[in-house]
Amino acid sequence: MKNLAVACLLLFSLNQDIPAGTPFTGRWVVRADNGDGTFRETVLALDQRGSTLTGRIINPTNEQPIVDGVVTGDNATFAVVTGRPPNQRRAEYRATRREISLEVAVTRPGQKPQSMIATRGPANAGDAPARIEPPALHRVPDNGLARTPPMGWNSWNHFRGRIDDATVRAIADAMVSSGMKAAGYTYVNIDDTWEAGRDTSGRIQTNRKFPEMKALADYIHGKGLKLGIYSSPGPRTCAGYEGSYGHEEQDARTYAAWGVDYLKYDWCGAARLYKDDEMQAVYQKMGDALRASGREIVYSLCQYGRNEVWTWGPQVGGHLWRTTGDISDSWESMTRIGFGQDALAPHAGPGHWNDPDMLEIGNGGMTNTEYRTHMSLWAILAAPLLAGNDVRNMSPETVAILTNREVIAIDQDSLGTQGRRVRTVGETEIWDRPLANGAHAVGVFNRGQAASRVNVRWSELGLEKNVRRVRDVWSQRDVERAGADYDVEIEPHGVVLLRLDR
Ligand code: GLA
Repeated sequence: MKNLAVACLLLFSLNQDIPAGTPFTGRWVVRADNGDGTFRETVLALDQRGSTLTGRIINPTNEQPIVDGVVTGDNATFAVVTGRPPNQRRAEYRATRREISLEVAVTRPGQKPQSMIATRGPANAGDAPARIEPPALHRVPDNGLARTPPMGWNSWNHFRGRIDDATVRAIADAMVSSGMKAAGYTYVNIDDTWEAGRDTSGRIQTNRKFPEMKALADYIHGKGLKLGIYSSPGPRTCAGYEGSYGHEEQDARTYAAWGVDYLKYDWCGAARLYKDDEMQAVYQKMGDALRASGREIVYSLCQYGRNEVWTWGPQVGGHLWRTTGDISDSWESMTRIGFGQDALAPHAGPGHWNDPDMLEIGNGGMTNTEYRTHMSLWAILAAPLLAGNDVRNMSPETVAILTNREVIAIDQDSLGTQGRRVRTVGETEIWDRPLANGAHAVGVFNRGQAASRVNVRWSELGLEKNVRRVRDVWSQRDVERAGADYDVEIEPHGVVLLRLDR
């Protein structure tokens, strides 16, 4: 009798799960193998009413509604539209009902069709965890780190998810042998995709690519370098890996125990639980946790410059904050970001820096002239210098660009004042950065396709005639000059970077 009741209950609940005649209704889970012992889960939350299909696709960091859903027998078609016109993209889905699974084929414009298997998941599959209320605001005290913009390397721009322990060690070796370390590059930062899940006590685990983070930290420290790591305030990172949500203090303690010296904390998955105007409180939580860990850890905020982070970044203990979306290895992306930083200059200073994103120098998408412009602009901007290339394989030109001591000295100047645009003439721009001891760095940039002549007047930099020495820091020559100005020809997409001493 009792068994019958259980069986009835089971049947009833199954029936609830798969209402008769609506076989597509439910949560369907696609597990993509990341190849490191972790899986990326995407959930199709579908609702069939007759021949109409509605629902959402739940990714680790966002959800998208489905449109134009039609069921015909065992087949369903629907689409997902992302982006805004004119950059709208439509992915077409075809799902076929098999015995206990869905066979799903996705066609995206310009890409080969992708097929996957979705299996039925629990009714809450893909749901965000319960929301934890953000804390009340207070000021996290300055811990004295990052008096000059952090310098180092980060895995993301070049390696994306193809980063592992052996590669990071080889990068650390190459940072020493190439002269990068001697030039000031210190932090070796592992970006997203090192994470696995958590053990029963909630402690974050590394995936197969990183067998022992403490041993890796010891290796990096043994080279006189420092180790950086990455996480998210959300349940999931941008690449869909385990985030720090609800485990902030525990993770900060784990990082400290491993010997981590730098944390990049990336918003992504937090967007499912918090609004932009809650970012400050959410970032403050990890700021407090890092301070409480007892280790000196640089705190890098990565939330793409939203919610005017420069106005509150230092208050949450942040040493640097991204000011824009992701850079890519193109002239268009680099210049859009770099030349767009002018108005943020007042917010930078020792211990708290605007971060226009990592360097693309040496990744191959720009010419060496353009990479010199990239490096010069970042130096004028007092930007963090995080190389984003494969430092194991660098051309001599790439090494020369990344390790030019005089350019780095501009970036690392102790005054910590971010440079500003002085004047635009056609497609050329003059930028000025005041340096310690009354010196100035002046960048004359040519954004155009043709060579251009520019006349720089010392008076427009507020210097009149008291300039003692003018140094071209790329050609590493003192410039012959007479009078109160400098006439210079700039190659297309090029720069002349001057240091003026008084
Ligand atoms: C975001 C960040 C990038 C990188 C990736 C990793 O896009 O802005 O810099 O960290 O996430 O998934």
